[in-house]
Amino acid sequence: MSARTLFVTTALPYANGPFHIGHIMEYIQADIWVRFQRMRGHTVHFVGADDAHGAPIMIAAEKEGVTPQAFVERIAAGRRQYLDGFHIGFDHWHSTDSAENVELSQSIYRSLRDAGLIDVRPVEQFFDPVKGMFLPDRYIKGECPSCGAPDQYGDACENCSSVYAATELKNPFSTLTGATPELRVSEHYFFRLSDPRCVTFLREWTRSDDRWGEPRLQPEVLAKAREWLGEDSGNGSLADWDISRDAPYFGIEIPDAPGKYFYVWLDAPIGYLASLKALCHERGIDFDALLADPATEQVHFIGKDIIYFHVLFWPAMLHFARRKTPDRVNVHGFITVSGAKMSKSRGTGISPLRYLEIGMDPEWLRYYIAAKLNSHVQDVDFDADDFLARVNADLIGKYVNIASRASGFVARQFDGRVLSADEVEDAAQRERFVRLAAQVTDAYEGREFGAVARLTMAYADEINQYFDANRPWEMAKDPAQQDALHRVCSRCLIAFHRLTVLLAPMLPATAARVAQLFGTPPLRWEDLGVAEGATSPVHSIGRYAHLMKRVEAKQLDALFEPPTDSATPAAPSPPSEPASADVVSIDDFGRLDLRIARVVDAQAVEGSKKLLRLELDLGEGRTRTVFSGIRAAYEPAALVGRLTVVVANLAPRKMKFGVSEGMVLSASADDAQQSGALFLLDADEGAQPGMRIS
Ligand code: 2FM
Ligand code: ZN
Repeated sequence: MSARTLFVTTALPYANGPFHIGHIMEYIQADIWVRFQRMRGHTVHFVGADDAHGAPIMIAAEKEGVTPQAFVERIAAGRRQYLDGFHIGFDHWHSTDSAENVELSQSIYRSLRDAGLIDVRPVEQFFDPVKGMFLPDRYIKGECPSCGAPDQYGDACENCSSVYAATELKNPFSTLTGATPELRVSEHYFFRLSDPRCVTFLREWTRSDDRWGEPRLQPEVLAKAREWLGEDSGNGSLADWDISRDAPYFGIEIPDAPGKYFYVWLDAPIGYLASLKALCHERGIDFDALLADPATEQVHFIGKDIIYFHVLFWPAMLHFARRKTPDRVNVHGFITVSGAKMSKSRGTGISPLRYLEIGMDPEWLRYYIAAKLNSHVQDVDFDADDFLARVNADLIGKYVNIASRASGFVARQFDGRVLSADEVEDAAQRERFVRLAAQVTDAYEGREFGAVARLTMAYADEINQYFDANRPWEMAKDPAQQDALHRVCSRCLIAFHRLTVLLAPMLPATAARVAQLFGTPPLRWEDLGVAEGATSPVHSIGRYAHLMKRVEAKQLDALFEPPTDSATPAAPSPPSEPASADVVSIDDFGRLDLRIARVVDAQAVEGSKKLLRLELDLGEGRTRTVFSGIRAAYEPAALVGRLTVVVANLAPRKMKFGVSEGMVLSASADDAQQSGALFLLDADEGAQPGMRIS
């Protein structure tokens, strides 16, 4: 396939608050798709922006005593930490309150007006005489015209669910001032969506395929659109769309209409173009030429609540303004937090910032969300136990496990040299992978990310089984089997590298670390080596370094706990008694539970010159934290991946920096502690975390 040029957007968030987990889910979904396209060699312009306009933001700013511009700027300033934190690679983040958006919105409006699609009509609406403004429905309350319930909003009754016009409320009042609103008439501008040209165009557009012969709308979205277009009932008149609001309003002025502003939803999607235009300016790209080029594909990711705007208003606006219409509108469901897990103490949602602040790995969330996404408009549920099990089982237990098991043999016994795929793989194995790569490629393209997770983890399972079946830890002891050992481990490492390429759109930071481990440039799709004559870039592996930690239950507890601001450090416990070297019985020895452990992570402990904080895998399905006084002797990074010996049944010891759940064994000369001459115990490769030492 020749290189594609894609213009990709996510829905523009209102600039009235920080991102919530729903925003992050959408950005992760789009970002994965974008990274996949980039890895394939396609050009992607991926943009977002703040949706700045509208009455609610104007009113919120007023309450704070700041201008709406200052209000939205403050919100915008908080965006980066989320986007960087979750590895979301927008090329540009803009605002609908921008010069580009004013120019584009006014230009599109003029085109629609020239096409005869704008009408001006009087509209009778509630007006707050104290505030001096027309009131959006949400700022009017009164008694329900059906059941008489007091304090109901201007559009629907929460008591009896009836729907009505604000003007039907009994004893209405303005929620802004308490004043009784007056009915006043003003001129409103309408986009004539009911025009037969619009209806005909939309019937055709919604149902047509994209350039790849795929439907541009998901089946459930098309069904909705057909319903709105009256295609099945034959009753197909779309209502004209009121696109104007009277001053005072925070928005874009309508040309030749003093005191009139575009309704926020008119200029919001045009903000997609405004952001692209700003990006083009930054990069020296010709914006008009880019959008005029029929080869440029325009793809939107949105939530199911804003389908109407994106499959009716937006394509009609663009089409009748003689502009490119969207190639695809990809709609996703909402993110929910498991009902059972939702309690007052666990909170009512997940704060993305808290997730980052407590040190949870953004790639866990990227993978977890991806694994639950498909191409349909289905809700995604975040469940804490499921998250822990899934991430640990898949990413650590299956995927990372391959590298952590195979790399040591190759590094130690073969100087890090990895044999080529041709030397280690038979035709059936190669075919199996070629098929997998094609399936994963199709799944990414079609946004079936759950299928990507299933397919890749099934392959990881196969490779782990292959490793087990060959028992490399036994081969390692037999000089006659060195070549076979080299082949087995090389095959596993090549598979691991391929899996990393396939998972890279979901796990970009991990993929970058893996590329470093293998000494290769940033990963591309062609590194899969499946094309005719293609080869894998893997020739050698460096020392296995920390790739990813396990999720711990306590992290999920912390995620749902309300933040505490005073953490009381535990008092240091008294130093333990020096060990006695007296003779012990075999029974005494037997009381010690000594186990093999793999160092999953090692970090210096802030505030301590002596201690390292080790995360150890003892094969228990979780890691243990052990503080060890070996800082003078070991660089933390050098320990990650190696095997050692742990006293597993030592009573947990509360230290200043946390609880130590065991002790690693090291050798030292009697007087050498101060000079740093310490030697951590090792185990031959092949020993597995959790094996008992006797
Ligand atoms: O629903 C929302 O949050 C809107 N701010 C989405 C706008 S999407 C696009 F049209 F800008
Ligand atoms: Zn009612």
